[in-house]
Amino acid sequence: MFCGIFISSVFLKFCSQRVARLNIALGSAKNINNNFVWITVVLRERLTIDHFYTYEVTELLEGGMGYVLLLSLIDSARKPDLMESILQRSSELKVRFRYPYRSLLAAKTVKEQRAMSLFARECNIWLEFEHPGIVPLLKIVDVSGLILALMPQYSGSLRDLLLQPKVSYRNLLKALAEPVAALAEIYKRYKVVHQDIKPENFLYERKDGRLKLLLSDWGIANVQAAQLPNFKSELSQFALNTMGGFGTFPYMAPERFYSYISDIKADIFSLGIMMMEIVTGTQPYYTDQPLEQQIISGSYYEKAESMLLHIPQQLSGLILSMIHPSVRNRPGNYKGILKLLQYF
Ligand SMILES: Nc1ncnc2c1ncn2[C@@H]1O[C@H](COP(=O)(O)OP(=O)(O)O)[C@@H](O)[C@H]1O
Ligand SMILES: [Mg+2]
Repeated sequence: MFCGIFISSVFLKFCSQRVARLNIALGSAKNINNNFVWITVVLRERLTIDHFYTYEVTELLEGGMGYVLLLSLIDSARKPDLMESILQRSSELKVRFRYPYRSLLAAKTVKEQRAMSLFARECNIWLEFEHPGIVPLLKIVDVSGLILALMPQYSGSLRDLLLQPKVSYRNLLKALAEPVAALAEIYKRYKVVHQDIKPENFLYERKDGRLKLLLSDWGIANVQAAQLPNFKSELSQFALNTMGGFGTFPYMAPERFYSYISDIKADIFSLGIMMMEIVTGTQPYYTDQPLEQQIISGSYYEKAESMLLHIPQQLSGLILSMIHPSVRNRPGNYKGILKLLQYF
């Protein structure tokens, strides 16, 4: 069964799509594994959060394992006075979440029953992180049985930016410094490996005329070596802690194909492939050979070298070390990468 999830997640996670209707597994937060029914969420549907705030679904996005609903607050539903009293009460109760009262929100949920416990695992990991380079989890709500992880709404993903290349690679690399600093801190503090570094999982916004990128999607993070103080999961088996085998081919380091264990160097590999894409516009693979074969054999490396010939040596040298087929030859931390990104 694990193998089945592997295959489908690899293919499905390749890109997110916009769809007009979603069938979502409905479950109760307390009884997360049982008694599912399916509901259909359609565009323009209204959802009321925490009794007072009614949002309209303005977009339905589909990722590999989850759905993301983009939500817009309907003006007439604003209740500032009530909000005040709730804020007061929530601080009294020492509720740790920031209240999701914003005119635009995004809500992540799951597609199917088997993914519900994985979603709970993801939220558990996500809750630990607070960093300007990471998409914050604002609150988890239960809307008539539909469990939503609320976050701010962003303008799109780095993939969207790469598809309409109006932004220079220098500006993209500069914006990458903050989420990479976040990855470095998360690794240093908690030993968490993200395992799904790719353009779809970096969201963007423009703030004060500046492009900002934020890292998201902790769905297949490796927490095997993690020291997360409040992390709880029903899924304690080794395979699920490491989420070995899951991933997105073009970004998966060679060692992840034959070992469930991945460490910081697997994320550094994925980041290197992504930086290659930012700088050259394409991934370093031959189109006439299967991807996994090229990754496992290391044959992509020569292509990468030729693609980076005209890129400044400091940058091309760094990227080539990050995507080196041999784990030993890759950087073991983000220091040098950050130094270069911050320079842009
Ligand atoms: N907060 C958000 N604002 C705008 N778009 C988002 C937001 N979160 C996710 N998305 C979009 O939805 C897609 C799927 O979300 P993601 O969390 O990556 O789910 P999955 O785990 O299924 O990959 C992302 O690739 C991105 O394009
Ligand atoms: Mg994703």
